Amino acid sequence: MMEIDYVRSRFIKHFDGKTGNVYASPGRINLIGEHTDYNGGFVFPGAVDKGIMAEMRANGTEDTVMAYAIDLKDRVDFHLNDPAGPRASWARYIYGIALEMKKLGVPVKGFNIAFAGDVPLGAGMSSSAAMESCFACGLNDIFGDNKVSQWDMALAGQATEHNYCGVNCGIMDQFASVFGKAGCLMRLDCRSREFEYFPFKPDGYRLVLLDSVVKHQLAGSPYNDRRNSCENVVKHIQAKHPEGKFETLRDCTWEQLDEVRAEVGEEDYKRAKFVLGEKDRVLGVCDALNEGDYEKVGELMYQTHEGLSKDYEVSCEELDFLNDIARECGVTGSRIMGGGFGGCTINLVRNDLYRQFIATAKQKFNEKYGHEPKIYDVVIGDGSRKLC
Ligand code: GLA
Repeated sequence: MMEIDYVRSRFIKHFDGKTGNVYASPGRINLIGEHTDYNGGFVFPGAVDKGIMAEMRANGTEDTVMAYAIDLKDRVDFHLNDPAGPRASWARYIYGIALEMKKLGVPVKGFNIAFAGDVPLGAGMSSSAAMESCFACGLNDIFGDNKVSQWDMALAGQATEHNYCGVNCGIMDQFASVFGKAGCLMRLDCRSREFEYFPFKPDGYRLVLLDSVVKHQLAGSPYNDRRNSCENVVKHIQAKHPEGKFETLRDCTWEQLDEVRAEVGEEDYKRAKFVLGEKDRVLGVCDALNEGDYEKVGELMYQTHEGLSKDYEVSCEELDFLNDIARECGVTGSRIMGGGFGGCTINLVRNDLYRQFIATAKQKFNEKYGHEPKIYDVVIGDGSRKLC
């Protein structure tokens, strides 16, 4: 995590010299359970020790927001009552979450905000969810007496993506950012919203992310198309079984999927096939973790990669290449993490293999693509919080 002074000194300089309150929210990793959240399935994320930090303060105006993005050195002022909102994509997160918090009954008025982040942008670690939950946490504290629950803040973050940023995402990222706990992964049932903390101390192994540095951007990406494919399959299964209630792929069986295969077409069939398989794999990982069987966890991670690459088709050449290197080096588990279309692989590596794996991956990736992947050792950190 970055230093509070880094944000505070800019907040003081760019506004009226006064200090505000400082809030922080993390990005996330996900061990397994990809593209299952909007299908009512399970996910297995954890918060990381990197995220977004923001200093915020009510400025006494009715609806003027003065915002400064420290890393971009960009200042945008806007009005909460302006129906169009700001154009800068980063400022839309502030605008969106403020309006969503208002919908939840928080009387948000004008405020000043400066923020910075150390969660890499576009790496698939959910810098956007970190922003949403950080700003939600601040607005809830400053204007809402902390009345809004953690779940409602996570949902407000998700609604911000849907309503102001053009991404029809699921709930995993915002959930992880709000509820994260140091040292623990969380298994979330995205249908019932029940979850449990899973202490994650894999004896003899560690998690490391390899960032392909291929820009990952979900807005305007085929992310929404994937979701539409899944929903289309559910619609067809529902039509065939009017007696049943099919809300998401979570409610559908392999047999039912096979029944509609011809009518939905091969592409949508493959998308749904991945999701049904992934649902089973998350449960398999839970069992394996309970038994301390990390080799099994790793095997399931490779299967997920295969499915994301061949059936869900959200990988890219660079990520497949990183996955191949992991296999060649004998790494226990490796797969694309997050929405896909670039970003990172997450790797479960035996400690004794770690150095050699990283060195090999850097060298081979560099030979092929002219630059090294970035390496992030995973430290599982805490969720959204007020720092001072
Ligand atoms: C993105 C979305 C999440 C989830 C993942 C894929 O990170 O924001 O809701 O769907 O992709 O698992």
